[in-house]
Amino acid sequence: MISIRPHTNVLVLTGAGISAESGIRTFRDSGGLWENHRVEDVASPLGFRRDPRLVWSFYKKRWEDAQLATPNTAHLALAELEQKLGNNFNLITQNVDGLHYKAGNRRVWEMHGSLNHCYCTNCEAGYSLREINLSEDLPGCPACKGLLRPDIVWFGEVPYFLPEIEEALKVCEIFLVVGTSGAVYPAAGFVMSAKLMGAQTLAINLDKPDNLGFIDHFFQGKSGEVLPKLLAEWYQN
Ligand code: OAD
Repeated sequence: MISIRPHTNVLVLTGAGISAESGIRTFRDSGGLWENHRVEDVASPLGFRRDPRLVWSFYKKRWEDAQLATPNTAHLALAELEQKLGNNFNLITQNVDGLHYKAGNRRVWEMHGSLNHCYCTNCEAGYSLREINLSEDLPGCPACKGLLRPDIVWFGEVPYFLPEIEEALKVCEIFLVVGTSGAVYPAAGFVMSAKLMGAQTLAINLDKPDNLGFIDHFFQGKSGEVLPKLLAEWYQN
């Protein structure tokens, strides 16, 4: 029996699958390549040191794509759930596309960073991509002229908001996972933590995720189709 009431503490984890129906390609679908680049070339600190121009051109293109993308029915259903639950709702996303914010969610932890932001490798000042001169191959820091880098958590780097997420995992009553393969840690381990700390664990995904063993109820399908229906079923005033 799954029931969400206004006082139920719900923690959601999303991955690339929730944005698939908004036209953003998932990682596992790209066969180890990411828009024809090796992941280690465009998503690692070493790749950036080797060829920062390539990395910047890759993320500028992804940022432009994300700007054009619109939230789908799954994003919108989660925004509606936040409206209903207020402080009892938290959303962790591995996505960097900003679509949860566009949909209206505010209680979002973008644990892998955001395409919308960059920061200076020298003075660490942070900027929105809108504020900087993107016509340069290598955008420079307006304050110190240091080299800017995308604010994306690359392989080998520590995800953001881990202390906040740990606290939320302790208190959530329902942990809902949407559109993630359960293959990339630490996010893939959250479902185990939530279950061991007493939450009911639910997942919606097109394919069976790798961490299925820790999921109490699995719903197979496209999140844009399945999630709004399930949330309408589970929510009771
Ligand atoms: P993946 O690409 O690993 O997994 C996407 C999952 O979404 C797959 O299991 C698909 O079956 C599922 N899927 C596809 N379309 C769907 C749909 N319409 N509805 C529901 N599910 C659908 O993406 P993530 O799990 O998010 O890290 O990948 C985790 C991390 O690996 C990413 O954040 C990224 C990547 O390397 C960094 O960039 C640091």
